[in-house]
Amino acid sequence: MKKTLFLSLALTFILCSKETKSPKAAVVSARIEASKIGIEILKKGGNAFDAMIATNFALAVCFPNAGNISGGGFMVYRKNNGETGSIDYREMAPKKAYEKMFQNESGEIISDKSTKGGLAVGVPGTIAGLFEIHRKFGTIPMKDLIKPSIDLALKGFIVTAGQKSSLDSKRDEFIEVNGQNTFYANEFKKGDTIKNKPMAEALKLISEKGEEAFYEGEIAKSIVEEVRESGGIIDLEDMAAYKPKWRIPVNFKYKELNIFSMGPPSSGGICLAQMLKMVEKYPIKEFGYNNEKTIQLMIEAERRSYADRSKFLGDPDFVKIPVDTLINDKYLLNRMKDFSFSKATSSSKINPGEIISWKESEETTHFSIIDQFGNAISTTTTLNASYGSKVYVEKYGFFLNNEMDDFSSKPGTQNMFGLIGGKANSIEPGKRMLSSMTPTIIEKDGSLYMILGTPGGSTIITSVFQVILNAYEFGMNIQDAVNFPRFHHQWIPEKVEFEKERFKNATIKSLQMKGYDISSDYIRKIGRVDAIMISDEGFISAGADPRGDDAAAFIY
Ligand code: DON
Repeated sequence: MKKTLFLSLALTFILCSKETKSPKAAVVSARIEASKIGIEILKKGGNAFDAMIATNFALAVCFPNAGNISGGGFMVYRKNNGETGSIDYREMAPKKAYEKMFQNESGEIISDKSTKGGLAVGVPGTIAGLFEIHRKFGTIPMKDLIKPSIDLALKGFIVTAGQKSSLDSKRDEFIEVNGQNTFYANEFKKGDTIKNKPMAEALKLISEKGEEAFYEGEIAKSIVEEVRESGGIIDLEDMAAYKPKWRIPVNFKYKELNIFSMGPPSSGGICLAQMLKMVEKYPIKEFGYNNEKTIQLMIEAERRSYADRSKFLGDPDFVKIPVDTLINDKYLLNRMKDFSFSKATSSSKINPGEIISWKESEETTHFSIIDQFGNAISTTTTLNASYGSKVYVEKYGFFLNNEMDDFSSKPGTQNMFGLIGGKANSIEPGKRMLSSMTPTIIEKDGSLYMILGTPGGSTIITSVFQVILNAYEFGMNIQDAVNFPRFHHQWIPEKVEFEKERFKNATIKSLQMKGYDISSDYIRKIGRVDAIMISDEGFISAGADPRGDDAAAFIY
């Protein structure tokens, strides 16, 4: 006992003594290599946007399950002068796509078609997004932002234990989709180095010829060829037609916080606003962290918000979304009218739906950056599932996304994350599929306070929701706010998932007695949040999620 106390005091001392000086800048991402590459760009005088671009390329090399040049994403930013904005470089449906493309003649969903192989691929947006960000905010030549990742691809990256098991678990699918000779049919052990010369070639082409290399040139041709061979419909016209879009972030207040998050075609910002506002009038701080009442409130807010998501949200260029109403205080008060602490609200009373379980693990990636000038960026990017559609562009060393599964393939039918949708998120040519990605930036008293986001499919929004409350209401430092156990509910299915063995049995039992559907056999980790917090005194600290290999790098 004494020894434990001594060790914990010693640890506290080490941590505290390390934290006496605030970093000037921080990058926190899924891999230390990528965070370091971002920091090096800042050290050369680049800004957060330059670092964002360099970090993204690095993740495409060393985190191939989610880092990408062939997926899509969102970035929310806040410049040091307080100006905020966001960019949408989400994938879009190819022009030959149609509403029932994943259904057979009897209207049944054809299993795996929206998740595996060529038809699952959406027209990639990442490269167009990075170049657009660079045109508007970049200060360092693009080729200098790409160069470290070319070197990384040639020199190779070290396989972590997590990466080994992730590659092992998908190898059969890589072979099924791409054949025996595909690059990732090779078995890799922990500690092996993976060199990716073809990816270095792709990055060189992009560096020399710009985004045209990817959307019109050699790389576009290879993508179209691989997609075709795998039964897909993307053509060169689709590639050439892709355009990223600047969008106004969703902006709302929670107590003294001023929050900026991603708007449609992501549901992240709107649902986060709904959840926070639905719990705002309750004394959640008094209830305390993971107290039964806190948990109940949060579950019920999540239930109601995910029900709205399924009906109202989609690509704003195709459907009219009542954003103001959805995040209006009165509307949200009314949504919580039937909530009671004595009993769970049944999801079927809010809206019915059929129930399946999730099939996929969590593979998207988020990174947060603050630069030495005080600019902040929050970026979430994805191939959707781990290694996307598993279609691999052998010539250039990367996987293609399976973002088409984020559309609603049929009203009321659940996607890979158990999410359901309807008309607002139906497939149409050129439309962007609804996302849950929630890159978020928060001000407190007019100053930058927090930068955060996470992968995790449908658990993205609820993870961001919890980390904000952990830090702001329960006073945790940002690393604890990220580390502490999480739970998740999304209206349909009825179940509530809790990270295993990380909650008090008595709380779980009591919630079950009130009608919450909680099983003890959930094993997955919920979200992998990478966050930065700035204290009232201006002290910068980072929280890299220990659920993954995530790591922060700093400038002091
Ligand atoms: O856009 C979305 O919401 C999903 N495609 C995100 C997928 C994801 O987070 C996968 N897991 N980490």
